[in-house]
Amino acid sequence: MQEMIKHLAELYGPAGREDRVAAYIRDIMEPLVDEVYTDTMGSVVAVKRGSAEGKKIMLAAHMDEIGVMITDIDEQGFLRFSNIGGISPFTLIGQRAEFADGTIGVFGFEKLDDMKDLKLNKMYIDIGVSSREEAMAKVNIGDSAVIHRECIIQGQRVIGKAMDDRIGCAVLIETARRLENSPHEVYFVFTTQEEVGLRGARTAAYSVDPDYGIAVDVTATGDTPEAHRMAVSLGKGAAIKVKDSSVISHPLVKNLLVNTAKAKGIAYQMEVLERGGTDAGSIHLTRSGVPTGAVSIPCRYIHTPGEMVDLGDIAACVDLLVAALEGPWE
Ligand code: CO
Ligand code: ZN
Repeated sequence: MQEMIKHLAELYGPAGREDRVAAYIRDIMEPLVDEVYTDTMGSVVAVKRGSAEGKKIMLAAHMDEIGVMITDIDEQGFLRFSNIGGISPFTLIGQRAEFADGTIGVFGFEKLDDMKDLKLNKMYIDIGVSSREEAMAKVNIGDSAVIHRECIIQGQRVIGKAMDDRIGCAVLIETARRLENSPHEVYFVFTTQEEVGLRGARTAAYSVDPDYGIAVDVTATGDTPEAHRMAVSLGKGAAIKVKDSSVISHPLVKNLLVNTAKAKGIAYQMEVLERGGTDAGSIHLTRSGVPTGAVSIPCRYIHTPGEMVDLGDIAACVDLLVAALEGPWE
């Protein structure tokens, strides 16, 4: 699983360009489930059939990551860009951009009297060329780049870009691998375009039409120096979402997850995320409404190249999902 996590995290896959992540996941999922298909929006849907008494349960983790998109190229070949998803200019200083063809660039910024004035429009990407023509041979307007960063596993901790939400994809894959005795029809959905507005999950949930939904994504923690107060810590188990800015978890799903964790002795913590959303935000508003909750992987430094998660928390999330899916719903 560690090799898979590292590979998933390092893949190129900004919102709208999830194809490589999708291809990798399809190959892994095909032998684990009864059916795999890719929908119009590019989401990968893997179905494990259940029995007649079972419910239809949709799990969702997003394949896309934040990134930047080229908006303009100047005479000297410097690339201007805008954001794909929530990206702070400060996290880009000193980082490298990676384009789909492997071209690497460096994020630079204009001279500023006050660093507080740093905005994305004061920044550029330098791919080491000296003219627009030279640049255009490698990069075009509308091309997307992600942050280039190796994924490191150090003790119990995984550090890298795109833990949000490739680690959720890894949790879904591992859950599918471990799930043996579920009465339910389980849809493992690897969604697209979450970072730009929970878009792939919206259409996937409409077509799957589930009885229940569970999003699996990262959540913030409150356990670093002078952190914003939040009762979630790295290494203290699966986080069961109560609320974020996209969803208030349905009590039925939330309570089922809490009761399952208690019954099976799985480490868990309650999550109230004050800013940020997940695919649960789209799923629960599908058709006439879907009871939806979320299992979150605690993550420090979200939307930076150093997103950090804990292998014990990942295991707890898998244990919780497997146990919940093997038990009765309602
Ligand atoms: Co995110
Ligand atoms: Zn996410």
